Amino acid sequence: MVELAIDFDQKKEELGDLYGLFFEDLNHAADGGLYAEMIQNRSFEYTHLDNDDYHPLYGWQDGNGDPLTEVKLQLRVLSDDPLHLHNRHYLKVNSREARTIANDGYNQGLFFEAGESYDFSCFAKPDLLQQRIQVGISYEGEVPKLTELAIDGRDWQEYHLQLTAEQTTKTGKLVVVFPELTDLAIDMISLFPVKTFKNRPNGCRKDIAEMLAAMKPKFMRFPGGCLVHDGSLNANDHDSMYRWKNTVGPVAFRPTKRNNWGYNQSLGLGFYEYFLLCEDLGAEPLPVLPAGWDPHHQRAVPLAEMGEWIQDALDLIEFANGSTDTTWGALREEMGHPEPFNMSYLGIGNEEVGQQFFDRYDLFHEALKKAHPEIKLINSSGPFAAGSEYDRGWANAKKNHSDLVDEHFYSSPSWFIAHHHRYDNIDPAGPKVFLGEYATKDNKWWNALAEASFMIGLERNAAKVGLACYAPMLTNVAHVNWAPDMIWYDQAEVYGTVNYTVQKLFTEFQGTQNVGWTATDLPADAVWDDRPITGACSFKGDGAEIRISEIFLLDNETGQQWAFPDMTISNDEELPLQDIQSEDYQLHFRFTKTGGQEKKGFKLNYGKLSDDDRYIWSLGGWENQDCMVESIKEGYHTVLTQNIWHVETGVSYDCLIKIKGRQIQTSVDGVVFNETEDLPVVAKPLYINTVYDEKLDRYIAKLVNLQPEPQEITVTTGEVEKVISYSGEKETVATMTNKQPLTETVLTDGNATVTVPAQGISFVIVKDQTKGEKNETIIG
Ligand code: AHR
Repeated sequence: MVELAIDFDQKKEELGDLYGLFFEDLNHAADGGLYAEMIQNRSFEYTHLDNDDYHPLYGWQDGNGDPLTEVKLQLRVLSDDPLHLHNRHYLKVNSREARTIANDGYNQGLFFEAGESYDFSCFAKPDLLQQRIQVGISYEGEVPKLTELAIDGRDWQEYHLQLTAEQTTKTGKLVVVFPELTDLAIDMISLFPVKTFKNRPNGCRKDIAEMLAAMKPKFMRFPGGCLVHDGSLNANDHDSMYRWKNTVGPVAFRPTKRNNWGYNQSLGLGFYEYFLLCEDLGAEPLPVLPAGWDPHHQRAVPLAEMGEWIQDALDLIEFANGSTDTTWGALREEMGHPEPFNMSYLGIGNEEVGQQFFDRYDLFHEALKKAHPEIKLINSSGPFAAGSEYDRGWANAKKNHSDLVDEHFYSSPSWFIAHHHRYDNIDPAGPKVFLGEYATKDNKWWNALAEASFMIGLERNAAKVGLACYAPMLTNVAHVNWAPDMIWYDQAEVYGTVNYTVQKLFTEFQGTQNVGWTATDLPADAVWDDRPITGACSFKGDGAEIRISEIFLLDNETGQQWAFPDMTISNDEELPLQDIQSEDYQLHFRFTKTGGQEKKGFKLNYGKLSDDDRYIWSLGGWENQDCMVESIKEGYHTVLTQNIWHVETGVSYDCLIKIKGRQIQTSVDGVVFNETEDLPVVAKPLYINTVYDEKLDRYIAKLVNLQPEPQEITVTTGEVEKVISYSGEKETVATMTNKQPLTETVLTDGNATVTVPAQGISFVIVKDQTKGEKNETIIG
């Protein structure tokens, strides 16, 4: 029998703000998601710069339900007399006959609940003194009951109306009718449910935000991701990088911007609203700012002109924390929040690659630490778990004494299991890890379980890992840019994936401090995969035209050598070389890119057992910016290590890859580019961490079982008060109609022997009975 003793007196690492959230506006996470605005393109600002399909009337329909189009001189989108310089476009109606426009939001239908109220608002400006419009809800295409609204101001003015839904529907529309002889301009046509999260005006969708609140996150990183640094350098451009000053002040006066995920962002959910949401969630705000460097488009602000960007960061601290007699603190007060938001973390950059970023980070760091030593600054270590940019980020963070370094990786479940000890040996004196984005690339239970086992390693290393958050967080089911995601929704419903179940469990029961534990009689670790990298080799095209010559494969074990004729790859064809079973071999070739797509290179497959089980050397990967060693395991892609590199057309490169066991080394022109080991996959019989939760005054043993058999364990210290367990089949996924497909058991029978389900998780809540009764029961 396995026995677990929790050492109540051995309090160890503080868990601090370990588990939090990462919000990025991708997948329509803000507009059409968390932001409760129901109307798509409320301000007629959509443009082809956002998306090829967009135009200023995108999202709007006429009275017949057809896409709304301009009617000469009668119904037009104009910009000559705008509501605000930042919100230029508006609808001008000057019509003899009545005109109807309608909007069905982001999911081909608005969600209305019978008896619930909705706030309609718009800005309008009549050209004749007295005008009126009629507003109503249409259910399932029925003719709406209309309410009249007088438009009687002289200039642009805001109008409000409350509508109450008479039916429940997912396919409703907002209908606005302009009666005969209308002559007015209208903009910011908006509809919000009255019941937003915490009833905030311009607030968040209640159901989605409540799922976040239920997690009890310790922090929230916002507003992205790639969203932060993908864009132009001029804050006034429609496709500018995410500049926070564009997102504060009156909502109607904010510009809308191109979102790099292929849509328009209204910025109605802006930095003020993010801060407010963090406060409502009880989470530390963790904003991320761009550093004047867009690695995607290789755009950099000259170093001498970085003052404006650094000032933005200083002003953000003033906006969040400054007194109300400062410029930005006064704006915060004006927006409704005189009290400071007490921001203590600030991220500079996201997944940054290239020295250009780090030259700029140095400037931010110096200025920010000088003015605000109290703010914890977060540096960046690129998009992958290892390689040149990862090392560059860490080196720069150590040089500057950054407080944390933002790491990102999206990898296979087996990679996560193999890397359980990733943080065991990092320097506790250096910056802390902020694992700002991670996931195992699927929403199946096995993925969530692998993430859970990895999280045990995160919290065991809480002295070195300061913060961690799963990514991405939200997706609208009709607008998926990136999957997997933690929470899915449409216009009416929301569900948490099985990954959400795990994240919620770990976050809600994070605890305050680690405590010591010992377990006796645990079975030995199981080696699941330590096979050497053997199998087929082949070249694979990736859109570029490549000539390859001097191809030699050498088996270092036997001395056998194979030579292959010169070959040319184009498009995505695959040219097989040889199957090799040796544990020590190398492949040499020269190549020249002769044409094809500019932002493409090619790949070498090796150790290939199937399409779903292979290794890749990618030369000119990701937009021809990388040289990477990757693997595909169980069909899931992992970047094992990455170097930045660009394949020049017409240049001949001399390449060598050496494989020994599970070690891989690549070089180009005699220089080592990538060096890595694909760690063996070794699974523990049980992943264990124990924590103390100050608020609950309870100890929690967190047990993750990846094995196909249940594991019994007897807790020999204290009194077992409650056991919460989840289990499922490896392939189990949650869906909109099956929101909790896992088996959940909650035991309160006091039994000290706990059965951790096969491929399951148990959190055991333990009371130190020697302390006497403090709390009756901790959770219902
Ligand atoms: O989380 C999705 C994207 O993944 C983020 O925008 C980016 O930081 C990462 O590449």
